Amino acid sequence: MHGRGAAAGCIIARRRDGAEGARSRPMDKLRIEGGRRLSGRVEIAGAKNAALPALAACLLTGEEVRLLNLPRVRDVRTMLRVLEQLGASVMGPEGGHATVQAERFASSEAPYDLVKTMRASVLVLGPLLARHGHARVSLPGGCAIGERPIDLHIEGLAQMGADVRIEHGYVEARASRLRGASYAFPFKTVTGTENLMMAATLAAGTTRLSNCAREPEVVDLAVLLSAMGASIRGAGGEEIVVEGRESLRGARHSVIPDRIETGTYLVASALVGDGVEIAGCRPEHLEAVVSDLRRAGVSIDVGTDTFHVRAPQELLAHDLETAPYPGFPTDMQAQHMVLMTQALGESVVAERIFERRFMHVGELLRMGADIRIDGRTATVVGPRRLTGAQVMATDLRASACLVLAGLAAEGVTVVDRVYHLDRGYEPMEAKLRLLGASVERVR
Ligand code: EPU
Repeated sequence: MHGRGAAAGCIIARRRDGAEGARSRPMDKLRIEGGRRLSGRVEIAGAKNAALPALAACLLTGEEVRLLNLPRVRDVRTMLRVLEQLGASVMGPEGGHATVQAERFASSEAPYDLVKTMRASVLVLGPLLARHGHARVSLPGGCAIGERPIDLHIEGLAQMGADVRIEHGYVEARASRLRGASYAFPFKTVTGTENLMMAATLAAGTTRLSNCAREPEVVDLAVLLSAMGASIRGAGGEEIVVEGRESLRGARHSVIPDRIETGTYLVASALVGDGVEIAGCRPEHLEAVVSDLRRAGVSIDVGTDTFHVRAPQELLAHDLETAPYPGFPTDMQAQHMVLMTQALGESVVAERIFERRFMHVGELLRMGADIRIDGRTATVVGPRRLTGAQVMATDLRASACLVLAGLAAEGVTVVDRVYHLDRGYEPMEAKLRLLGASVERVR
C-alpha cells in the first residue's frame, strides 16, 4: 500500500484563485431592484456537488489528478484547503482547473474548523482510510436544514472491516486494508454512496453496494474513478459493484455542469424571463425540474446543451414533492416555492429529504407570500404580489430562493449573508446582470 504512514515535508503550492474578486466578506449583501425582465444568455458552471467528491477522490492516488470545469465557489476552495491540510499539493484553481497530487500524507485529520464550515469535508473519510489506513474526521453535527448524521457512511466502512470509533466529536477509523463487502443502504444517501464507492476502489476484493443514490454526481465520480483505473459497474443504478485494486493512477477529468445552478436560472427565467438561453448544461439531468416548470405553464425549448425559456402570461400552481434522483431535487425546493408564490391556485410542497428545509418561508412571508407550514409540508397560495424587503437566509438554496423572490418583487430587496450563496453559486450578481437584472453586491 502506498503512501501509508504520515510523512511531512510535502511542497504545498500557493493557490492562485481566479475567483478572488468574487470572494465574499462577512457583511456582503445583494441589493436587487425587482421587476426587471431578463433576456440573453447565461453560462452554467461545473457542479459543486460533483467537484467536491472529485477533489476527495484525488486522495486515492499518489499521482497527479487534473480536474477541469471546477466552479468558482467557496466550497471548492474549502475542499482544496482540506486536501492541503492532509498534505496534498494543489495547483490552482485557475480558470476553473486545478491539479492535485497527494503523494504523501502529512496528516490524517479533517479538523472541526474546516468540517463545520463545509459538511462535504466528510467525503475525505473513505479515500483517506482506504489509502492511508487511518482517518480522523470531525463529525459535522446538525445544520440549518436538518440533523444530517453520517451513520450510514460509518456503518458501511465498518462492514468493510474498518475499526471505527467516535470520540471527542470525531470519527476515527483504521484499517490496514479494507476488504470488499456487501452493504445495503437502508435509504439513499448521496455522499454516503460516494464515500463507500471511493473506499471500495482500494479494498481487497469485491464490494456490492445496494440501494445507492443515483444522482448524476455519483455517476460523474464513477467516471473519474474509472479513469483512475478503478473497476466500477452500475453507477447511476441502485446497485454498484466495485472490484478493489492495489492502487489507482492519475487522471484528467472535466466535472459535469451544475444541474442546480441550471435549475435556479430556469426558475428565474420562468418568473421574469423574456427569452433566456441557459447554456453549457446537461438537460438530461433536469427532467424532473423541466417537467415541474412545464406543469406551471412555462415554455421551455430543450437543446443538446441549452434551454430556451420564457415566462408565461400566467403561472399555474401544482403540488410537488422532493425525492432522490431522478425525482425532484430537494436543492430546488426553495426556488420552486418562489415560483408557486406567483402561480394561480394552491400548491402543496412536500419536503421528503431533510426535516428542516423550510427556513426560507419566514422570509418569503415578509415579502408578502401566503404560505402555511405543517410539518414537512408547505401550502403556497398564489399569486401574491411580493414586495422588496431586507431578508436573510441560513443556507445556500434558501439564499438563492430569496434572490429569485427579489427579482420578482416590486421595489428593492436586500439579501443579507451572501456568503451562503457564494458557497455554491458563481457570483449571481454578475450572471444576473448580464441578463439585464439590477443586482449589486454591497457591503
Ligand atoms: N442521512 C442519514 N445518515 C447518513 C446519511 C444521510 O440519516 O449516514 C440522511 C440525511 O440526514 C438526509 C438524507 O439521509 O435526511 C439524505 O441525505 P444525503 O446523505 O443524500 O445528503 P448529503 O449527501 O449530505 C448531498 C448534497 C446536498 C443535497 C443532498 C440531497 C453534496 C455535497 N451535498 O448531501 O446538497 O441536498 O445530497 O440530494 O453532494 C446543496 O448543494 O445545497 C446541498 C445541501
